[in-house]
Amino acid sequence: MLFKQQALLRQKLFVLGSLAIGSLLYLVARVGSLDRLQPICPIDGRFRPHGQDEIPLRALQFKRGLLHEFRKGNATKEQIRLHNLVQQLPKAIIIGVRKGGTRALLEMLNLHPAVVKASQEIHFFDNDENYAKGIEWYRKKMPFSYPHQITIEKSPAYFITEEVPERIYKMNSSIKLLIIVREPTTRAISDYTQVLEGKERKNKTYYKFEKLAIDPNTCEVNTKYKAVRTSIYTKHLERWLKYFPVEQFHIVDGDRLITEPLPELQLVEKFLNLPPRISQYNLYFNATRGFYCLRFNIVFNKCLAGSKGRIHPEVDFSVITKLRKFFHPFNQKFYQITGRTFNWP
Ligand code: A3P
Repeated sequence: MLFKQQALLRQKLFVLGSLAIGSLLYLVARVGSLDRLQPICPIDGRFRPHGQDEIPLRALQFKRGLLHEFRKGNATKEQIRLHNLVQQLPKAIIIGVRKGGTRALLEMLNLHPAVVKASQEIHFFDNDENYAKGIEWYRKKMPFSYPHQITIEKSPAYFITEEVPERIYKMNSSIKLLIIVREPTTRAISDYTQVLEGKERKNKTYYKFEKLAIDPNTCEVNTKYKAVRTSIYTKHLERWLKYFPVEQFHIVDGDRLITEPLPELQLVEKFLNLPPRISQYNLYFNATRGFYCLRFNIVFNKCLAGSKGRIHPEVDFSVITKLRKFFHPFNQKFYQITGRTFNWP
């Protein structure tokens, strides 16, 4: 009799234990990691407004669920109203530099529960046709978010396009501007590789990098070549500084973002006045890809598309040396202006 009772008790304990572990696993899967667990306070089926420090859990769940549906256009007007969702103009923009790691930066920042990314490059400020459609057109291109979240857009063409600084200034003179840079010669080769791949896809032939980067008549660096011009960071930045003070820019080290992303992201969190929420848990190295990938929770991971992290063609070393020598004085000036020094050769 006693034995039977004991067996029954063990059975009950086993069922209860399984239920508790199952619920815990479910919560961890939804929330991401245990250290993100914070109380949720629903009121009348809605959520109570939070201070910034209380955002993470709710916003994270929201980003994975409802927000996704809203972005796909599956939300009703009523749902948008109930959740107080808005399409907000960006409070920060990744203005460049092309091939600096702009996509990786945007995706990694989007791990932060208070950040909502505009998935596509909008090209509002650099494209006259889009710009003529007006600021409301631009705002409607933004994702839905809670009012306390910040929207971030990236369009790398902004950095090098003449009209853009003034246009952005007119929209918001106190906007925060992010620029991600890589060693200029590597960036130029990456830029070339992207164009080359596009040509090959269309079965077209293309010049070798050496031929484009060096002027065959003078044997000097060809400053008319766009991939070279884009890497003269200081020239472009100087145009921006006519409109914005240097404090409104944050320079991200794109080479470090590849090898050691977390400290770079923490600097951006600080610049954007966000509570530190991105942790090592959110970033894991994928040996097959050779890059860090993103972990939102134990269920949802993602790596960047295969078009990010291409194999570069081999470039004549004398051309690399020539380019590095060419960029050197511009780099020095860039360090001086931004107060951020890189050990570029
Ligand atoms: P390469 O293709 O030359 O390696 P952008 O998004 O501005 O076009 O930049 C592309 C670059 O982002 C890639 O250049 C790649 O090196 C870099 N990158 C940085 N972090 C990355 C990551 N986690 N996954 C893939 N690419 C990353």
